[in-house]
Amino acid sequence: MKLLIAEKEVQKKVSRLARKISRDFAGRELLLVGILKGAFIFMADLARRMTTPVKVDFVRLASYGSETQSSGRVRITKDLETSLRGKDVLIVEDIIDTGVTLDFLFHRLQARRPRSLKTVSLLDKPEGRKVDFQADYIGFTIGNQFVVGYGMDCNEEYRNLPEIYVVR
Ligand code: IMP
Ligand code: MG
Repeated sequence: MKLLIAEKEVQKKVSRLARKISRDFAGRELLLVGILKGAFIFMADLARRMTTPVKVDFVRLASYGSETQSSGRVRITKDLETSLRGKDVLIVEDIIDTGVTLDFLFHRLQARRPRSLKTVSLLDKPEGRKVDFQADYIGFTIGNQFVVGYGMDCNEEYRNLPEIYVVR
């Protein structure tokens, strides 16, 4: 594994995202919706740096077929416990590759009539897109490489690493 983004750089970026999002939602309460499992560390750090009131909830998604090659079909295996109606909602994701996951969740949650629905992803791999999806807030844009650490895994390993590595 090769170091891609050091812990200090990750933390600086998360602080900057939290500042920007806090500014954009000043005076409002935001519901953070984390996508398990990959987003759990990013979401915890982001939530702690927000200066506006937040609540948190989580969904767990599974894609049909192979794990490594997105089949384009997603389902919810653990749903939210919170109603979204009339709320300001921010979906928190670790990384966008094909865009299939976030595109699916965005439309499913939009149907529940939140007041607003935005998305943040710490990492973005635009070269991998199969559906046209753009997050409202992005931390880092990276190339078409497989990364681990800071919540992201390879066969459930390395989620606890505080920095981000490329797997070779
Ligand atoms: P998408 O549906 O192809 O955009 O895939 C997004 C999901 O795939 C993310 O939530 C991650 O769980 C996983 N994923 C995509 N790329 C990586 C990676 O480089 N490392 C770890 N997980 C990844
Ligand atoms: Mg994920």
